[in-house]
Amino acid sequence: MCGIVGYCGPRQASDVLLRGLARLEYRGYDSAGMTVLGDEGITTLRRVGKLHHLAEAVAAEPPTGTIGIGHTRWATHGRPTEENAHPHADCTGSVAVVHNGIIENYLDLREELGASGHVLRSETDTETVSHLVESYYEGSISYAVARAVKRLHGSYALAVMHADEPGTIVVARQDSPLIVGVGEGESIIASDIPVVLEYTREVLVLEDGDVATVTAGGVVVHGADGAVREPERMHVEWDLEAAEKGGFETFMLKEIHEQPSAIRNTLRGRMGADGAIQLSELAMTEAEIAAIERIVIIACGTSYHAGVIAKTLIEQWARIPVEVDVSSEFRYRDPIVDARTLVVAITQSGETADTLAGVREARQSGAKAFAVTNVVGSRVTRESDGVIYTHAGPEIGVAATKTFTAQAAALMVLALKLAQAKGTLERERVESLWEEISRIPEIVEAILGSSGDIEACAREYTGVASSLFLGRGIGVPVAMEGALKLKEISYIHAEAYPAGEMKHGPIALITDDVPVVVVATQGHTYEKVVSNMQEVRARGAHVIAVATFGDDEICKHAEHVLYVPRTSEAVSAIPAVVPLQLLAYHIAALRGCNVDQPRNLAKSVTVE
Ligand code: AGP
Repeated sequence: MCGIVGYCGPRQASDVLLRGLARLEYRGYDSAGMTVLGDEGITTLRRVGKLHHLAEAVAAEPPTGTIGIGHTRWATHGRPTEENAHPHADCTGSVAVVHNGIIENYLDLREELGASGHVLRSETDTETVSHLVESYYEGSISYAVARAVKRLHGSYALAVMHADEPGTIVVARQDSPLIVGVGEGESIIASDIPVVLEYTREVLVLEDGDVATVTAGGVVVHGADGAVREPERMHVEWDLEAAEKGGFETFMLKEIHEQPSAIRNTLRGRMGADGAIQLSELAMTEAEIAAIERIVIIACGTSYHAGVIAKTLIEQWARIPVEVDVSSEFRYRDPIVDARTLVVAITQSGETADTLAGVREARQSGAKAFAVTNVVGSRVTRESDGVIYTHAGPEIGVAATKTFTAQAAALMVLALKLAQAKGTLERERVESLWEEISRIPEIVEAILGSSGDIEACAREYTGVASSLFLGRGIGVPVAMEGALKLKEISYIHAEAYPAGEMKHGPIALITDDVPVVVVATQGHTYEKVVSNMQEVRARGAHVIAVATFGDDEICKHAEHVLYVPRTSEAVSAIPAVVPLQLLAYHIAALRGCNVDQPRNLAKSVTVE
């Protein structure tokens, strides 16, 4: 999605904007631009392509000034061209606007503005905002923006400047993230936290409907009702290193290796001294939990796979029926949910449009909706009845890794909490499961510490065009996640199936150039999985198996075995997925793919 940076303070704005936009590159973009306001008035530079093109333009013609706004654009309306790049101006060139989101009524606005003499030069929805602000400007940019946003339908995070008000940037948000870092005599506006960390740890989180006037001296926020309000202020613990690569060649590899701490931090404090699982965020009495008749999990992509893991665990431990639905289907199926349904929305970004819409749909139907998210202050935290945070820290790589295993850990806590409340697990059983879950971080550390052979295995498969991932039981979502990782970063087609499904069609795909990855860790269907491996190998497939240390039989049925420490089946999903993350990573890296920013993908899908 698009990235926004704004600055007002003592520094040269162009430097701050370029550094800030660089920290947002992971969001995916196709053009970039900035507007700086200085003694010579407004200077706007925009370039198609990667950020270095803009940096070259800035170096060639440095815009001087200590206030400015910058933008990286991920095209939604209008092709990736310089004309469509942000910032966008009004007819006079006095207004500059950057935007993240979608103005759904922009065609009507373009028609209205054109009819009143405005000349719009781009294909974008955003440019309508510049001209609306122009039409409402009577000497106060804050007033003009407040009037303009009332005409907008859809989602927006906006930063707006006016040539006649050199000390002010006005920001507004609706359904699209925006924060303001408050420093010493300077303010930094951003779409995401890593941008502000080198200047300040104090962050204001804006709400939907807010219009904020930002100056070097501070921020004045007007809420949706027009009244001044005190915004939520956060002290951000993440240091810049946490958003840097930390010695790894890519964010993704760093984040794969951060999984032990991400899981540990997510589990921290979840078991009370009295043996009760601590999940106060659930904000439900034991009686309310006991009254839950079914659970519906909604999510997209990798988060959906975490939901499938949760289904297995909640049904096994708490004996509550669970359905898992992709958010984009749930929101349009007129879902059957009511006060007896608990809806769990899993979204690491907390900004995924389909999942947010699903939460709204569920709550309108009377269900309680809880979010599992990684981002404090994200949109889903405002739309839900409660939030269970994963504490994975910022995930910059587009491919989800540590947020996935942190989600799985958080969902294990949820499943145990529900089981305790329903009384379906004895205290001893809860304690022994908790004991095992608490050991997962060190198990993952062991896997990461002995993963040297995975790159060698990956080297044999960089040239394949297609692959299959198989599993049974809790191995199915692991296979699904392994397939998604491979396809999204290496661009090799990869498809996951329950291993028992092979005979019903997919086995027709097997030839010696379609490798089959099989999750064959110890479990009650292990023998069945081995049979499936024999079936595909008999037809020429090369098999890569994820298996448990001590299993000396499995190597007879596979070209490669990626071993993981033994755990009970119920908690085996996290250990089993780590080798598949690394396999996908190394294949993609060996193919020269841009692992952190795969083509066509964005880290947060904030539009439908
Ligand atoms: C996973 O690697 C992808 N980044 C993508 O499938 C992602 O999981 C999906 O877009 C959901 O994002 P969310 O968890 O932020 O809602």
